[in-house]
Amino acid sequence: MADETRHPPTIDLQGARLRPLRMSDAAAFYAYLRDPAVTELTSYPVVSLPMVEAMIERYLRRWAEGELSKWGIALQHEDQLVGTCGFNEWSKVHRWAELAYDLAQAHWGTGRMRQAVDAVLQWTYQQDQIDRVHAYVRVDNRRSERLLQRSGFVREGCLRRYRIARGQPHDFYIYGLLRSDWEAARLDSEPTKPASR
Ligand SMILES: CC(C)(COP(=O)(O)OP(=O)(O)OC[C@H]1O[C@@H](n2cnc3c(N)ncnc32)[C@H](O)[C@@H]1OP(=O)(O)O)[C@@H](O)C(=O)NCCC(=O)NCCS
Repeated sequence: MADETRHPPTIDLQGARLRPLRMSDAAAFYAYLRDPAVTELTSYPVVSLPMVEAMIERYLRRWAEGELSKWGIALQHEDQLVGTCGFNEWSKVHRWAELAYDLAQAHWGTGRMRQAVDAVLQWTYQQDQIDRVHAYVRVDNRRSERLLQRSGFVREGCLRRYRIARGQPHDFYIYGLLRSDWEAARLDSEPTKPASR
């Protein structure tokens, strides 16, 4: 897996693509993270441009070191960054990874993140080192919960006062999707073959 993870693939979505982040994405990333609606229900701190640059550096370094990390979501025509999707953490020992994502508000409700999450899951489960993907969602982040539910994640519990976001403690749900759940859902959605006579 190390070779694949050192070079995150570009994956086409409808009208957009998942592609490696670049340092030149910092301004667009900062522009949408400055929008309080985007960070309101997350554990992001108040961000500055240098913090966003440092985040991109960290994501790129993690890929380079053979770790799973984040992709950029860019519009197909302009290549403008409108979101990120990928992994905050990866335990090689326990074979899980923590999914995280964010999208510029102008693109909410377009199904882009659903496509991005599904593509990341497909790529990840095609590799052979992950059996579980999970995500932490603030209990008041209904959009994110619905997104995970539609992608097949199951709510596994509530972690009370799990993270402090901009000075306030918050409860988070943990959502998980096992490789076996994902494979079963794919089998269910495959068209049934006509019975042979
Ligand atoms: C989370 C995020 C990626 C979801 O993407 P999105 O494009 O907004 O998702 P959608 O518009 O498709 O909405 C998702 C679902 O929530 C529902 N929804 C939207 N607004 C809602 C609200 N205020 N209350 C309840 N449900 C809501 C939608 O109807 C949809 O459900 P459906 O598919 O059953 O109709 C996006 O909102 C985002 O980036 N938010 C800021 C960052 C963030 O919260 N990241 C996740 C941290 S865990």
